[in-house]
Amino acid sequence: MKILMVCLGNICRSPIAEGVMQSLSNKNNLNWQVESAGTNGLHNGESPHKHSVEICKKHDIDISAQISRKFTKADFDNYDVIYVMAKDVYNDVKKIADANNLPMQKVKYFLDAIYPNQNRDVTDPWYGGQDGYIDVYNEIAKCCNVIAENAKL
Ligand code: 4NP
Repeated sequence: MKILMVCLGNICRSPIAEGVMQSLSNKNNLNWQVESAGTNGLHNGESPHKHSVEICKKHDIDISAQISRKFTKADFDNYDVIYVMAKDVYNDVKKIADANNLPMQKVKYFLDAIYPNQNRDVTDPWYGGQDGYIDVYNEIAKCCNVIAENAKL
């Protein structure tokens, strides 16, 4: 199964989600291929934010080789599940779907895995300090663990 994690810049939240989910897939032999993208394209070609890299490294996950890229309409074909990190990201993805007559069935709110049907946002740590990255890592890891556990049922 191919999974795409999507946020705005693809430098803070979705790189962590990619790293944690891929690591859990590997540990649990789920055979998933996890990647990530951002809807705003402002950081195309960049590495993940240093605080995202650091917090993942603390948990033995290396995301330093990831490269930010923009979400495109081809991603609707190329992935089985598209997890969006927040409402603004959902709206960006929906705009692309609507403009290209593509269905939204594959698109899910990431945090719905732990808060069903609530369409909650993963708080964007971009606007805060380093501690925000600890909180966001913990929330993302909790959610990825639930997604992996559900897959094993
Ligand atoms: P991310 O955080 O969506 O979690 O990667 C952001 C990073 C950069 C910007 C917005 C959000 N930006 O507008 O530059």
